[in-house]
Amino acid sequence: MSIQAKIKSAILDTSGAEATNNWHQLLDLQTKMFLPYEVSFYLNSNIWKKAKSILDVGCGNGSYVSRISKFFPEKSYTAIDVSSELISIAKNELSASNIRFQQDALETFSEHKSFDVVIMRLVVQHLKDFPSILQQVSYLLKPGGTLLIIEPDLKKFQNWPSTPKFDNLKQHVEIYNTKMETNRCHLPILGEIAKKTQNWSVAEDKVKISPFTGPFIASNLLHLYQLWIDILEQSQILPIHFDAVRDELIDWGKQPSAYSQIGIRFLHLKFNDENQ
Ligand SMILES: C[S@@+](CC[C@H](N)C(=O)[O-])C[C@H]1O[C@@H](n2cnc3c(N)ncnc32)[C@H](O)[C@@H]1O
Repeated sequence: MSIQAKIKSAILDTSGAEATNNWHQLLDLQTKMFLPYEVSFYLNSNIWKKAKSILDVGCGNGSYVSRISKFFPEKSYTAIDVSSELISIAKNELSASNIRFQQDALETFSEHKSFDVVIMRLVVQHLKDFPSILQQVSYLLKPGGTLLIIEPDLKKFQNWPSTPKFDNLKQHVEIYNTKMETNRCHLPILGEIAKKTQNWSVAEDKVKISPFTGPFIASNLLHLYQLWIDILEQSQILPIHFDAVRDELIDWGKQPSAYSQIGIRFLHLKFNDENQ
């Protein structure tokens, strides 16, 4: 069985030209929109400043790691993803002397004790069994290394005036994830789970809010929401009238007083193995 076939997620299915293209656009846009907040986190993180070797697990099309590497060119980066479509985009479009892209999965990648920091950005939520992720990452980290998890803070995600159809869509995504038992249901308590896991502790836990003010006609924000909706529609997992959600967002986005905020959480977990 191929690595890709082993890791099944309907939402993350990047096969097929349309799905690959939607994911490619989405990952570029998310990088562009949230990078200022993220660079500000990195610049203020002592752990990050000291790190030399970085592994980005689930790097997608490589857009994020490539941008980060421009800000911190003195570090060396390895970036893996299970999607053959996205990793070939990364290899073809973003090759750089300090980044190595490779098609592989967290579950099969085997470079033991090789990295100071493992980044998982917008990946943990899609996978199951957080303790086993910690175990796999602990195998890859150098002694005293850290896992940096970057995920949305869903409690901070808000549109004003409210968008009930979009909220209903988000609720269905949460119901689906609860049914699938993915880590998305446990995002607020990942730190608590890590603290209860032998040799792991929380080193940093920060939330940054990225606010957007309307009107949103032809904006990155509306484009981002449309791409999320397109990908969810393609995955065929939700019983939703997607065009009604699209129409609602377009009307909402025309209002000069429209406001939206997305919270991004940076959870830095330290692995201390006394036996190392
Ligand atoms: C939402 S995307 C995030 C991409 C990138 N980290 C970013 O922030 O732009 C999640 C990525 O994780 C990859 N992925 C899912 N399960 C994985 C696994 N077990 N090992 C490696 N990559 C995985 C998917 O193929 C997808 O590209």
